[in-house]
Formats: sequence, structure tokens, C-alpha cells
Amino acid sequence: MHVGVVSLFPALLQAFAGTSVVGRAIEAGLLSLHVEDLRAHGVGRYKSVDDTPYGGGSGMVLRVDCVVAALDAAEAALAAPIKPARVLLTPQGERFTQARAEALTAHGAFILTCGRYEGFDERVRSFVDFEVSLGDFVLAGGEVAAMAVVEATARLVPGVLGNRDSARVESFSASNRGLLEFPQFTRPLDYRGLGVPDVLRGGNHAQIDAWRGEQALARTRLRRPDLADALDQAGTVNLSKRGQPR
Ligand code: 6GU
Repeated sequence: MHVGVVSLFPALLQAFAGTSVVGRAIEAGLLSLHVEDLRAHGVGRYKSVDDTPYGGGSGMVLRVDCVVAALDAAEAALAAPIKPARVLLTPQGERFTQARAEALTAHGAFILTCGRYEGFDERVRSFVDFEVSLGDFVLAGGEVAAMAVVEATARLVPGVLGNRDSARVESFSASNRGLLEFPQFTRPLDYRGLGVPDVLRGGNHAQIDAWRGEQALARTRLRRPDLADALDQAGTVNLSKRGQPR
């Protein structure tokens, strides 16, 4: 997978790229990450990348010429075998979901653009494919969002995770039918009076699978009625048999 990130704080992304799942993916040659410093594409003596808004108002706006120059540089540096999808990170974007992560990983190449200041010149939107938001809250910049998108996609690249199952049976993944994950337990068997469901210790795997399926359904209904309703509507999951929430 080829990933580019355009940012005014490349050091943040570089530190992130040296750690954890993402660092291992890069080391293994499964992920190529290029961070393009937006400042390098600034104009004038101070390498400005922003300016005051036409029409007045407070705050600064990121210049379209600087952002597009950085995007083009990132695309050239990535040298991906396919055209990378261009993604703008902004609270105005479409909500980032597991489905979107799976689609980005499947595509194989993308460039994330992080905003700062008050926002982008509107014309930037003519040079990207889509916009993504982490949710209904406002970050000071897109870098934390970029890290979230890089981590969510990198761990889906085949071979990146040690245990392949851990990327398949998990909350929200298509192969988990879009449900929340069932509850898990490990030792000790008794912790301050809290036990482990008997079915998990019985060794009957058909029974265990059935219990886990019920739990995933019940938990989704209880915690995320919005998800459960959407799945009902889509008909992807039969949620009519309601399990007992723990
Ligand atoms: Cl992608 N960017 C910013 N600046 N704030 C956000 C966001 C993105 N997603 C949620 N809040």
C-alpha cells in the first residue's frame, strides 16, 4: 500500500510512522509512507501557506496553490503503480468508517491532506476525490485524523497483523456482519468475584460460536441501536431474534 500525507507538521507523522503496527508494516515493505511538508510549497520569504480570506473575517485560509503543489509532489514521490485517491481531512467530510478503510486499503494508494488554521481555500476541493471526517468534533488540524486513517488502513493490508483472524472477527468489519464484537475473556477465571461464562469453558465450539453470535447481536442492539437498525433495513443480518444483553 502506498500512502502520502501532506502536512505542516511532518515530524508528527514521522514519529508515528516509526512505531507500532504502522512501523512494522513499513519495515516489512508492506506499506510505503511519504510525508510531504506543506511548508516546502509556501510562497515568499516566509514560505507562507495561508492568507487572509477574501471578503474579510477572522482567521487564515490555506492557499490552493500551495496545497495542490504539495499534493502533486506527494503523488510524484509516492510513485504508486496506480493513481492515488486524494483525500481531504476536514470536519466537513463524510464520516470515516471501517467500510471506507477497507475501500482505501483495497484501492492500494491514497494521499491524505491535513488542514490547519481556519480551513482550506474552497478551490482545493476541485483537486481531491473526497473528504473524510473522524466525527462531529473539531481538531486543530488533520494530523491526528491522518494517523487514524493510516493505522486503520495499514492493519488491513494482508500480512501486517500477526494473527490474521484478529482483523477479520472484530467490531464493524464486513466479515463480522457489521456488528460489534462479542465479549472476550482470559485468565484469571475469577477476578474479585467476576467470573467467566460457563459456555466458553465447555469446549463445545458450536455452542461457543452460537453464544458469540447472540452476544454480538445483543450488544449491538443495546449499545448501537443506530447500527442495528441500519443492518435491519439492509437485511444483511437477521436481528429479529434478540439475544439477552449482559
Ligand atoms: Cl478529519 N479534521 C479536523 N480538523 N477536525 C476533525 C476531523 C478532521 N475529524 C473530526 N474532527
